[in-house]
Amino acid sequence: MKLQPDWLLPDLEKARKRTQTPVARIDSFVIPESAKWIGRSKKYYISTYGCQANERDSETMAGILDTLGFEKADSPESVDVILINTCAIRQNATEKVLGEIGNFKRLYRENEDLVIGVCGCMSQEEGFVENLLAKYPQVRLIFGTHNIQDLPRMLYEVMHEGKRVVQIYSKEGEVYENLPVHRFGNTKAWVNIMYGCDKFCTYCIVPYTRGKQRSRTMENILEEVQELKHQGFKEITLLGQNVNAYGKDLDEGINFATLLEECAKIGIPRIRFTTSHPWDFSDDMIDVIAKYDNVMPFVHLPLQSGDDEILRRMGRRYTRESYMELFQKIQDRIPHVAISTDIIVGFPNESDEQFENTIKLVEECKFDNAFTFIFSARPGTPAAAMNDPIDQETKSKRLARLNKIWNQYALEKNKAYEGRIVEVLVDGFSKKDKHVYSGYTDTNKLVNFTGENIHPGDFVKVKITKGKTFSLDGQAI
Ligand code: 5AD
Ligand code: SF4
Repeated sequence: MKLQPDWLLPDLEKARKRTQTPVARIDSFVIPESAKWIGRSKKYYISTYGCQANERDSETMAGILDTLGFEKADSPESVDVILINTCAIRQNATEKVLGEIGNFKRLYRENEDLVIGVCGCMSQEEGFVENLLAKYPQVRLIFGTHNIQDLPRMLYEVMHEGKRVVQIYSKEGEVYENLPVHRFGNTKAWVNIMYGCDKFCTYCIVPYTRGKQRSRTMENILEEVQELKHQGFKEITLLGQNVNAYGKDLDEGINFATLLEECAKIGIPRIRFTTSHPWDFSDDMIDVIAKYDNVMPFVHLPLQSGDDEILRRMGRRYTRESYMELFQKIQDRIPHVAISTDIIVGFPNESDEQFENTIKLVEECKFDNAFTFIFSARPGTPAAAMNDPIDQETKSKRLARLNKIWNQYALEKNKAYEGRIVEVLVDGFSKKDKHVYSGYTDTNKLVNFTGENIHPGDFVKVKITKGKTFSLDGQAI
């Protein structure tokens, strides 16, 4: 592989640096004259992996492509540009993405003008980009999470100058306002409130792929929420890797509780937020969730482990006791609250006893939902360099045991809904059955239900007939 002089490759050393330099705030979006209308009569397809931050980034890329004259397509067949927005959180995502790029090779053979671009968190990883460059010639554009606003110029260079473009900044990052956006839904919207993360949990790649914590100003966020209300959106989710650390980097005395309260006052019917870190979960925040009917009684509170020594080695900044205390407080003060969590099993050198401590905590908390993962070593993170004599089979068995246990409690919680009437915000038809509608309760429970004359975006009262492990069944009343 020959490195081109103008290629900018990822550099983890640079990506982990944190300085006190003020964050640049850029609110103009300029399309170079040459790139204007490069998308006329052309189509694009975006494939998105990973978390809601990526979903929201894809909406920005779609917005930019629309501005260039491209039209969005729902399938990759016969399009002119394919963008693959990738996730780096665990290794298995890499395999899926490489599989998809492999599949697109056929489309490239049929149309050598096809631009296949890879972006998102995996492009910020050193080994991945080199592998792509060496083995996947059909990929002619690779850019990072800090380079999205340059899409017009990069596309122009690929499409009209025949270049292979690689542009990945490894830096703390800026805050861009006023980038175009093409929202993929018209009922629910994502609202970024902050970017990046400074927590540096030892297993996590996010602080390297997404830069330092940068909060948007409250003014800009509230303006966006107002606009969404005006456009008729029914639900917004405030997004950030650490939403409740919001404002700590602004030095303006504003925190997440204040922001949440101001958003609630605007009067959008449903407000959610994700993800909150137990370390930054304030009493004020609990009060705001309890006080406002339009702040949903649902909290995603990642636990990661129920063992103090593992939590310490993960760099999580709380103990099992302080987590339990917070959990209890949230349950006591927010009526009908549902709480979900994330758990990692098989962190380097996790003993049977340490794993049992996680099981015990899960038995005490009885979460409504959980996302459980086997530890995946991310190159460049401290945990990846830790001694890990525990074999994969043991880790898989632990995951299966943990899943069996939390599933039992989730089923128990959902069974308690039987006979109750809940309000559902309708998404549309259920994925499995076109005669059944689906949507979510305020507590973020998926409900599949029957009824008549129902439309996406409606609020419908539904009587729950059956509670299952991952969803509820019901009938509109
Ligand atoms: N291995 C396994 N799971 C991870 N997560 C983050 N990094 C890793 C990793 N290296 C999980 C955490 C986090 C969720 C989004 O993904 O549980 O909360
Ligand atoms: Fe990763 Fe920890 Fe930041 Fe969450 S808080 S994004 S787990 S480093």
